[in-house]
Amino acid sequence: VSLSRLDVVQGLLDMYEEPRYLEVGVHSGETLFGVRAAARVGVDPHFRFDVDEARRTQPQCELWPVESDEYFGRIASPATRFDVVFLDGLHTFEQTLRDLLNALALLADGGVVVVDDVQPSSSVAAIGHLERFVAVRTALEVESRDWMGDVYRLVFFVDSFLQQLSYRTVADTHGQMVVWRAPRESVSRRPLEEIARLTYEDLALERDSFRFAPYEEILSEIAATRG
Ligand SMILES: C[S@@+](CC[C@H](N)C(=O)[O-])C[C@H]1O[C@@H](n2cnc3c(N)ncnc32)[C@H](O)[C@@H]1O
Repeated sequence: VSLSRLDVVQGLLDMYEEPRYLEVGVHSGETLFGVRAAARVGVDPHFRFDVDEARRTQPQCELWPVESDEYFGRIASPATRFDVVFLDGLHTFEQTLRDLLNALALLADGGVVVVDDVQPSSSVAAIGHLERFVAVRTALEVESRDWMGDVYRLVFFVDSFLQQLSYRTVADTHGQMVVWRAPRESVSRRPLEEIARLTYEDLALERDSFRFAPYEEILSEIAATRG
């Protein structure tokens, strides 16, 4: 692991002249406050900083202390467009799928979506419910607080159902999927039910589905599709 979340997001933002950036799941703002972009919007129901103070010190950042569904459904104007969207909110398959579909509706032509944590670091980190993860972690006295949830299932969903999107998983980070609009010639016809039941072991056995590539190659591939 060499590249940080900030590196990955900034490299993508740098492809655009005046990039508009949306981050779902901001936490302490390490990425949101670190990136350079013409416009920045952050959404998190539980910012880990004083929002009023941040609005003063970071006036270029729009901050919405709400869940992503509320932001996409009630706050963002349908005419809003983003060039880069970083999805790093609630780490479940279904929430991240909803976030992805909502983000696609607001994605500018030639825009990209980055989905964090599609590579769980252990079978415990891959548990699909936060409360259950906490219970198992406590019972087994697991030290690591890493929780990637079942976001990995989203890779298989995109692969099998969203043929109008191309995607890659960054090989030189902790595992992020980058998604952009460009049709793929073929899809893997997995049943939806099978995707919903994929396990941590399946990840190891189906690594090809992640379409891993080094970050620099992914940037070139996206640049080539944008022409
Ligand atoms: C891993 S942290 C984000 C880290 C941040 N993107 C960074 O790069 O430093 C996940 C965040 O998602 C937030 N979150 C949880 N549920 C959410 C939801 N439904 N919508 C938006 N954010 C959510 C949590 O409050 C938490 O701060």
